[in-house]
Amino acid sequence: MPPGCRDLALGRATAAQVLSPAELERFDRYQVQHRRNDLVLSRVMLRLVLSRLGLDGADDFELTVDANGKPHAASRTGSPILYLNTSDTAGMITWAFSRQGPLGCDVEWIGQDKDAIADSHFAPPELAGYRALSGVNRTRRFYELWTLKEALLKADGRGLGIPLDSFSFHLAGPGPDRPPTVEILDPLTGPAPGPWRFHSFRPGATHQAAVAVRAPGEVTFQTCLLRPKRICPTFTPPWEFVIARDHPFASTEPETVLFSPER
Ligand SMILES: CC(C)(COP(=O)(O)OP(=O)(O)OC[C@H]1O[C@@H](n2cnc3c(N)ncnc32)[C@H](O)[C@@H]1OP(=O)(O)O)[C@@H](O)C(=O)NCCC(=O)NCCS
Repeated sequence: MPPGCRDLALGRATAAQVLSPAELERFDRYQVQHRRNDLVLSRVMLRLVLSRLGLDGADDFELTVDANGKPHAASRTGSPILYLNTSDTAGMITWAFSRQGPLGCDVEWIGQDKDAIADSHFAPPELAGYRALSGVNRTRRFYELWTLKEALLKADGRGLGIPLDSFSFHLAGPGPDRPPTVEILDPLTGPAPGPWRFHSFRPGATHQAAVAVRAPGEVTFQTCLLRPKRICPTFTPPWEFVIARDHPFASTEPETVLFSPER
């Protein structure tokens, strides 16, 4: 792993060691260096986390994408199916994994309240709750709802092909016993029916994240984050690589394993 990537010109030869041929074509298409860096770092993370979690050897899996762009881990050796998803934003890349059902994740850098986006994309009950808040609570609500909505769209697999106001989240309150729930307002255009499980969390002071899995019964998932150690919207070193193992939807704090990629 390189010591930092903000100003790093990761070249094609380096990328070719990590990326599949299709991803290498994407690398070539990107005009800005930070997008190239994010793609390579994201795939290095994937390999690291697969081996660190003891899920399977990284080489057992090949990353493919479906017609909607959703990534899938295709096993070369017949390993049990592994559901995964990834998201990146200023200063953070995340991967989430589960064995139990289709999964989506989203991470966002917390900026300003986004009233115009809320107006045009939140479902009426979400918008009413959001509009009733002010200040930091309003900002927090925007990002909680936005990450949950994106995680659900990505778990479904159709992404933004699903209208964002065809479903509405209820945020019951903090605590493991009161996870967010979703109400599908339009079954024709909305996400696939559940059972849906959600986890909304803040992986640092400046970011909000969510994971959605569609599976019944006991469901566990793992997350892996790459973030700068200092509060900073770019990947300025030193970085911190955080793996949360076997995180059940019923607990607040996952067991985490930290290591610095520079070591
Ligand atoms: C999925 C989507 C919501 C991503 O939103 P975003 O906020 O820009 O990006 P995020 O950082 O959260 O997620 C990016 C990751 O989502 C994954 N992704 C792309 N399409 C996806 C989909 N349909 N479902 C789930 N995950 C998807 C990719 O792996 C990508 O990571 P990568 O660039 O490292 O490969 C958006 O791209 C979308 O709706 N795509 C599908 C609809 C579409 O455009 N279809 C056209 C068919 S080609």
